[in-house]
Amino acid sequence: MSGAHGRILCYGLTSNPYRRARQVLIARPSGPSPIIRGMEASEKVLVTETDRVAPLQAAAQAGMDYIRSINHRSVAPRPETVASLAALIGPLPDAPTDPVEVARLLAQYGSPATVANGGGRYFGFVNGGCLPAAMAAAWLVNAWDQNAAMECQSPTAIALENTALEWTRDLLGLPEETGGAVVTGATMANFSCLAAARHALLERAGWDAENDGLFGAPELTVVIGNEAHSSLIKALGMLGLGRKRVVRVPVDGQGRMRDDALPHFNDRTILCLQAGNVNTGAFDPAAAICPEARAAGAWIHVDGAFGLWAAASPAYRRFTHGYELADSWATDAHKWPNVGYDCGIALVREPATLRAAMEVQAAYLHQGEGREPSQFNPELSRRARGVELWAGLRSLGRAGMAEIVERTSAHARRFAAGLRAAGFRVLNDVAINQVLVDFGAPEKTLRTVAAIQQEGTCWCGSTVWQGHTAMRISVSSWATTEEDVDRSLAAMIAAAKKE
Ligand SMILES: Cc1ncc(COP(=O)(O)O)c(C=O)c1O
Repeated sequence: MSGAHGRILCYGLTSNPYRRARQVLIARPSGPSPIIRGMEASEKVLVTETDRVAPLQAAAQAGMDYIRSINHRSVAPRPETVASLAALIGPLPDAPTDPVEVARLLAQYGSPATVANGGGRYFGFVNGGCLPAAMAAAWLVNAWDQNAAMECQSPTAIALENTALEWTRDLLGLPEETGGAVVTGATMANFSCLAAARHALLERAGWDAENDGLFGAPELTVVIGNEAHSSLIKALGMLGLGRKRVVRVPVDGQGRMRDDALPHFNDRTILCLQAGNVNTGAFDPAAAICPEARAAGAWIHVDGAFGLWAAASPAYRRFTHGYELADSWATDAHKWPNVGYDCGIALVREPATLRAAMEVQAAYLHQGEGREPSQFNPELSRRARGVELWAGLRSLGRAGMAEIVERTSAHARRFAAGLRAAGFRVLNDVAINQVLVDFGAPEKTLRTVAAIQQEGTCWCGSTVWQGHTAMRISVSSWATTEEDVDRSLAAMIAAAKKE
């Protein structure tokens, strides 16, 4: 914020916050800062560099203590710690709070009421943990405070994001011309890719979707599998393509599109395939479907939020065979690659179509020569999450990414074998990192899931898979060890036997 004389206003630590808020931050050890030159002595410097760094030190210490304790606590927070969040809620206080005290409050009341997602025994949803390098990068990114919209705002953020996008394309085995955007997650990646698809197909039909909207536009047909992820359907709604206005392809018992039940494709079809069903981990048979869809001129989109990363492993790559024939791919780095939240990736074979859908122009937005994220992303201002993606992938290397896919999938098989041996039914073919367990009657399964969550050794959620109530185990974290699997198995079996 600029004050009346071009000064920087600030939050404060003073006994008189209102006077303080009119004054200037940052003292430099030698002489006045350029931002306060020319100001009266009485108005100078009330927040020192020490003041500015102290909350970071408090937060870093609390963060490190948190990480050290994460494997020794209940995975779900205890009800009493959740109740203690009362200390942080309520009306906004009139007076400022010392930033160190703010950090202390978060550590005291916030940390205990978190879910231990970053430990080795969280198997909910498809949540990865955050790799140490990606977390360190996130801390640095916060210190940098960059707006990663345009290169003139952050050469570092843009260079690393471009590199991370290229590394991702390479790991996923996608065509060299592919470009894209680093977005908040697979929901926005699906949205961005489908916006590119909408642009391309309507442009081909002589219609300018971005300028003229969809009223009166030529019709497009969207084809999805009957087990498409809800976020893809939400994205279709956000794009005006309709949540319900889709042709649904019947699927098999694993949720894979049946290639003998496909509709006719043409050059106004958007075909949405899935690489990795959120419940079973199954892949649509892309190699069987894509050649015909491509020949017909359809746009092929892949929701590969986690499954596409199987391509990074020589042992699991076979599951992604044929997906390279698509036109766009949505995936997440906060799932299998274990980059922190929020980090999704939209990739498009012809990046110009994504650009056409996302372009933004204004006299003050000075475009550089290279790729400007603002021209490819739904957002303008954005955090430099591409740096975290770069850091995570750099720390893993090709071998590390393959190893996460292989190790977590092996853990999933260990879970399935242990649960079968204990007499419980595993509902899916455990091809990658997802396991569905049926503990008996639906109520018994739900009671068992609740008991497992409450006991605290590990955390799993429930689902209904093709009419069967089941517990979902998603092994997505780099941090999970074989010992974590065995401890969790013992807790699951004990809970199921008690219920
Ligand atoms: C197949 C699939 N697509 C999309 C999503 C949505 O991802 P996000 O939560 O990152 O938006 C998920 C989440 O699990 C998923 O499994």
